[in-house]
Amino acid sequence: MTEKTQDLMEKIVSLCKRRGFVYPSFDIYGGLSGLFDYGPHGLALKNNITQMWWKQFVTDREDMYGIDSTITTKKEVLQASGHARGFADMLSECEKCKRRFRADHLSDRQKCPECGGKLGEARQFYMMLETHLGAAEDEASLAYLRPETAQGIFTNLKNIIDSFHPDLPFGIAQIGKVFRNEIAPRDFLFRVRELEQMEVEYFIKQEDWKHAFEMWQKEIHRFIEFVGIDAKKVHELEVADDDRAHYSKRTVDFEFEFPFGLKELYGLAYRTDYDLKNHTTASTVDLSYFDEETKEKITPHVIEPSLGVGRTILAVLLSAYTEDELGGENRIYLKLSPKVAPVKVAVFPLLKNKPELVEKAREIYKILKKEFGAVVFDDNGNIGKRYRRQDEIGTVWCVTVDFETIEQDTGVTVRDRDTGIQKRMQITELVDYIKSQI
Ligand code: GAP
Repeated sequence: MTEKTQDLMEKIVSLCKRRGFVYPSFDIYGGLSGLFDYGPHGLALKNNITQMWWKQFVTDREDMYGIDSTITTKKEVLQASGHARGFADMLSECEKCKRRFRADHLSDRQKCPECGGKLGEARQFYMMLETHLGAAEDEASLAYLRPETAQGIFTNLKNIIDSFHPDLPFGIAQIGKVFRNEIAPRDFLFRVRELEQMEVEYFIKQEDWKHAFEMWQKEIHRFIEFVGIDAKKVHELEVADDDRAHYSKRTVDFEFEFPFGLKELYGLAYRTDYDLKNHTTASTVDLSYFDEETKEKITPHVIEPSLGVGRTILAVLLSAYTEDELGGENRIYLKLSPKVAPVKVAVFPLLKNKPELVEKAREIYKILKKEFGAVVFDDNGNIGKRYRRQDEIGTVWCVTVDFETIEQDTGVTVRDRDTGIQKRMQITELVDYIKSQI
């Protein structure tokens, strides 16, 4: 990482903490590597992103079913899926300093990148987190925290077919937490140990896989534009045979130019009938589908778009982070799309100590709050400081009540975040103006 790009990551991490987006978990106890908490603005941003995904991938379509399955997963499920054996990274330990590294991240597999000591033979390191259900902590009570949301979808396929009788192709979608004991969590939200995924398992006839794969490829690009990730920085990578997950026959990674390198943002995989076949064998429950057209029983094949929420947030923040000069002063602002911005509007009285301004501003705040929810009232500090504060969290519009509002009934000023340009508008026009842009 160059100094400049490291600087950018540091600026993002610092802004996230300072402005209530993301905090390291258990900060007062020194933190715990690979775990992060979302503060009020981060949570609002996250909710906006997951809602946009749900709308595009589920509710705007006619062929999707949403579910919410458990995180704690019966071990037989992850044995059948191949995760209990295959969900592992190769790890090398330094014989001198005892630090551990992912073998595929090392440029020299013999020498410790930290202390120069000799690295031991690479060995498999299993990434699933284990837990025990019930009083005894033995093999029988062993369960896993799921490493992907997908398995909860496969194990509910029969339920969805029995309840809804869908025609192929159709998909089941889920957003939820997953857990991975990453050897080297790093780069802020990029590689964490507790993460959230937005996944679809799309069930198809085998002969339709190429068509469905291309359809989801386009949908992923559409989502990238929709949430405001810089599309010029996204590149597709055809994943080579040796690098694909054990279940995949074709994988395309959507990589983003992160400051620390071109890295996976999302994945799209053709999982074939691998999971359903294995679950049918292991559970002895037939997970095939009766095709009314051909009067045949088939095991559906699966296309899976899988999108990480944290990586989306990081890519959105990196795409939005802007430094410029406004009115002769340097400023930082987040050029977030109005749809993802955690706060849409901030309402200010020009001066805090003028009750008539405060009262009017409160009146407008209440109207906007009722209409849009994501609205704040701010009378703290001078107006310039308030603008800077709102710019840093990406608030799209700042509405100010000044003396003209009261004395001449000329409405309020509405300041545009990106240009800093203010225009006057009647209070009655405000709601429609904002509504038309979010
Ligand atoms: N069900 C398929 C699956 O889980 P994956 O490529 O392992 O595939 C899918 O993960 C997505 O989840 C990734 O593209 C990324 O966005 C996100 N992801 C995976 N591991 C992550 C981690 N340790 N930290 C943050 N996001 C992660």
